[in-house]
Amino acid sequence: MKSLSDLFDRNRAWADRMRTKDPEFFTRLTKIQKPKYLWIGCSDSRVPANEIVDVLPGEMFVHRNVGNLVVHTDMNALSVLQYAVEILGVEHVIVCGHYGCGGVTAALDLERHGLIDHWLMHIWDVYRRHKNELDALRDHDKKLRRLCELNILAQLYNVCESNTLQDAWARGQRVHVHGWVYDLADGRLRDLGQTVSGPEDWLRRR
Ligand code: CO
Repeated sequence: MKSLSDLFDRNRAWADRMRTKDPEFFTRLTKIQKPKYLWIGCSDSRVPANEIVDVLPGEMFVHRNVGNLVVHTDMNALSVLQYAVEILGVEHVIVCGHYGCGGVTAALDLERHGLIDHWLMHIWDVYRRHKNELDALRDHDKKLRRLCELNILAQLYNVCESNTLQDAWARGQRVHVHGWVYDLADGRLRDLGQTVSGPEDWLRRR
């Protein structure tokens, strides 16, 4: 426990700094949260959601898991999605993966990692769907980078296919679903250019 005291020290210093900059900051947040964005990202410690887009507490609803997956039977992710869209009314759902993702690398390495292999099978499924394109890439790093992108797009489509998004669009709610990739090497985000903004958009893509 002693070794964690620095985290409490840092927390106190952070809260003090926030209050100095904006004395009403915490009081305001206790009353309401009205984030515009839902972020679905990887658990990787090098990809901290709020920090890389530089937004304050209260601005972004966040769900993270290994490999930034949205699995059709994952009540955790689906509940976050439903709450964010229906209750909080977010305008943007951002699926953000990253190059150098350990989950993507592990999904392809054919080694046993324990329980997590079952989770990573979802990434393996993405690989199988795009086997021809991916196997044509001789450079292993390029193959992994492309699989990171294809995995993000697969999850973007899973978000779009969910009842939550289909119902939101059917009642005319404006929700945009984006696929972004983060590069650990330079700290920059890139839009994969596949944003889906409604049912017409979606039907054209699927
Ligand atoms: Co990752």
